[in-house]
Amino acid sequence: MAYEIDEVLIPEEELKKRTEEIAQEISKDYKGKNPILIGILRGAFVFLSDLIRKMDIEVEIDFMAVSSYGNATHSSGVVRILKDLSENVRGRHLIIVEDIVDTGLTLNYLIRNLQAREPASIEVASLLLKEGCQKVPLKIKYLGFKIPDRFVVGFGLDCGQRWRYLPYIATVKKV
Ligand code: IMP
Repeated sequence: MAYEIDEVLIPEEELKKRTEEIAQEISKDYKGKNPILIGILRGAFVFLSDLIRKMDIEVEIDFMAVSSYGNATHSSGVVRILKDLSENVRGRHLIIVEDIVDTGLTLNYLIRNLQAREPASIEVASLLLKEGCQKVPLKIKYLGFKIPDRFVVGFGLDCGQRWRYLPYIATVKKV
């Protein structure tokens, strides 16, 4: 299946502004708590790096890599840990940083998995949420944008490893 960029859904300036707002919110909520921001690879790396550079508190970062999609545009529903955290998170305040929540199955799995490690708290920061697509109830404390049920790329998100480098969020279409 071949894809090409369709249209820009969220321009660079809007992403920058919203990311800065979320960074300020997190800074206010976590002052003195030294949270660990857990970036979910690979898609969240752009959002995470923009986010931490606009925060004015001390934070640590760690990463997990999970697979929920192959190279297709539909969720397999199967979540597998490809890379686990490097640090022990027991007693720590955790913020899971995601690129996009679609069915919510990945996030639901991650929250349960991290909860078992007895952190002090877990919250979620996600750049995007596909409206009306969640199959499980989820609480996302820091949300960038709600988007329609379209497949999107850019700002770290890919379609078969393409277009992660785009500075904006765009929809793709089949050709
Ligand atoms: P979920 O488990 O269905 O919520 O899927 C979450 C993961 O699927 C995200 O972290 C992305 O890696 C991927 N994903 C879901 N929708 C999109 C999309 O529109 N573009 C790129 N990746 C997506």
